[in-house]
Amino acid sequence: MSKRITAIVFLMTISIVLVSFQQSFTVNKSKSIERGKTVYETYCQSCHMEDGNGMEAVFPPLAKSPNLADKNRLLKIIVQGMRGPIKVNNVNYDGEMPGTVLTDEQAADVANYIRNSWGNKAETILPSQVQPALKATVKGYQKY
Ligand code: HEC
Repeated sequence: MSKRITAIVFLMTISIVLVSFQQSFTVNKSKSIERGKTVYETYCQSCHMEDGNGMEAVFPPLAKSPNLADKNRLLKIIVQGMRGPIKVNNVNYDGEMPGTVLTDEQAADVANYIRNSWGNKAETILPSQVQPALKATVKGYQKY
């Protein structure tokens, strides 16, 4: 009887340890998106608008955009800004976007927010992917 209780307590302890281990080493997607919304409201919304539709021919839309798929390009744009001509959903843009001073977590969070809002859907970006992305070469990308 007491051996059985010991075994049950042991198994319960193991499962609690495993669950907390998993939670501390993986990014909770919905939490990241939630934090990313605040980052977006603070740093991006004034140009790209609350609904992510931007302003035609001035600020490109992020909603239903096929251009958010390249993680390296997206993270570079978020942190380092961009310039030079681009075409989004058949409309030309040739503006300038300044970079934003963000922590790696904030950059990943805002990327997760825009990649999972307004009809967009994509896999989670981790904070650890930000620095490598900034060092990567992305064809056609011009830093601000
Ligand atoms: C001052 C206005 C402004 C702010 C603030 C701003 N952007 Fe931009 N963004 C632009 C402009 C203008 C462009 C297009 C630049 C060009 O034509 O090269 C752009 C381009 C982009 C693109 C590329 C779109 C594409 O289809 O390739 C993404 C993604 C983006 N912005 C996301 C963001 C995010 C996320 C933030 C907040 C961290 C942000 N922007 C803040 C003005 C802004």
